[in-house]
Amino acid sequence: QKGGYDTFMEKEIHEQPYVLSETLRGRVDNDVRMDELKEININWEKLERVYFLACGTALNAASFAQDLFRQWVPACPSFALAASEFRYGNYYLNSDTLCIFVSQSGETADTLAALQLAKEKQAKTLSIVNVLGSSLARKSDCTLYTCAGPEIAVASTKAYTTQLVLLVCLMIALSEKLGCQPKDVSKLMADLKRIPEITKDMLAQQEIVKDYAQCLKDQKDAYFIGRRLDYFSVVEGALKLKEVSYVHADAYIAGELKHGPIALIDKGTVVIALATQEEVASKTISNIEETIARGANVILITTQYQDTHAFQKVLRIPDVHPALAAIPAAILLQLFAYYGAVLKGCDVDKPRNLAKSVTVE
Ligand code: M6R
Repeated sequence: QKGGYDTFMEKEIHEQPYVLSETLRGRVDNDVRMDELKEININWEKLERVYFLACGTALNAASFAQDLFRQWVPACPSFALAASEFRYGNYYLNSDTLCIFVSQSGETADTLAALQLAKEKQAKTLSIVNVLGSSLARKSDCTLYTCAGPEIAVASTKAYTTQLVLLVCLMIALSEKLGCQPKDVSKLMADLKRIPEITKDMLAQQEIVKDYAQCLKDQKDAYFIGRRLDYFSVVEGALKLKEVSYVHADAYIAGELKHGPIALIDKGTVVIALATQEEVASKTISNIEETIARGANVILITTQYQDTHAFQKVLRIPDVHPALAAIPAAILLQLFAYYGAVLKGCDVDKPRNLAKSVTVE
């Protein structure tokens, strides 16, 4: 059942090249194919706002999508919100609102409650779901399926990266419908097709990641930092680490460090820094240097082009459109959490206090 791997989490991390190519199958050519959108009875020209609603890892994917939508369709406000908060926030909803729900199981109670509210207010509903025929899929106007296959380990890995690629495709399709276009769209399309290969290359770095994860041995805390899209990736990286290894992990916007969190950085503090977004990479690097000056033990994940002479532990992602850098970065962060948990002797597939599907609010 575990296909020769020690755990389901490890198996599922390694399945990503395949499930990503399944999720992308038939979607990307010269443009993005998303015929399912026809099922939504909406006048796209009148679209007033978009909400992305989800929990946990799926919320991290949703926040990433919100950022892309804001970049590519700046005229239409978009908000990513924890589904558990949605019912209590008095959010503006009407029939020209699109609510996008993201969920692996399609059975998360908080997400279903958010869907129910959206429907009561006549908002249009679209779900990104992994489990065929799940409640969320049945109750939404339109469903896009990730093709991750069954995800057994409690910690979400392959469901997350398939959500990311499908959300990128959806954001491209929506931006086109709304008369906008992502920056460097032809590179974006070409790189989307390369994602399964890129993912394979990332998995090939597992021994280096395993070695770097040794730094967690005597640590109770780890800090993850990044800017722009990298921030959502580090939030997910921190969630993964705390779930499976019980190491206390926090994620910060790198520019926020100096406004408080840097007080936590001391000799040997583990800092995992992500600098894949060219427009802010140099600023992130100088924030990281501030942590090194205070004795932090830094692991830097960055692009092929970044000058890294000041860093001892570096992992590189290949040349890829910035909107897709989150996917190779996720593989490295998942491996880091996995090896950290193994090092600490944790039951990676069944972390304490957690259930695969949370069916209570
Ligand atoms: O099935 P869902 O995607 O709706 O589940 C949402 C969260 O409960 C889930 O992502 C949870 O955070 C995972 N354990 C993360 O690894």
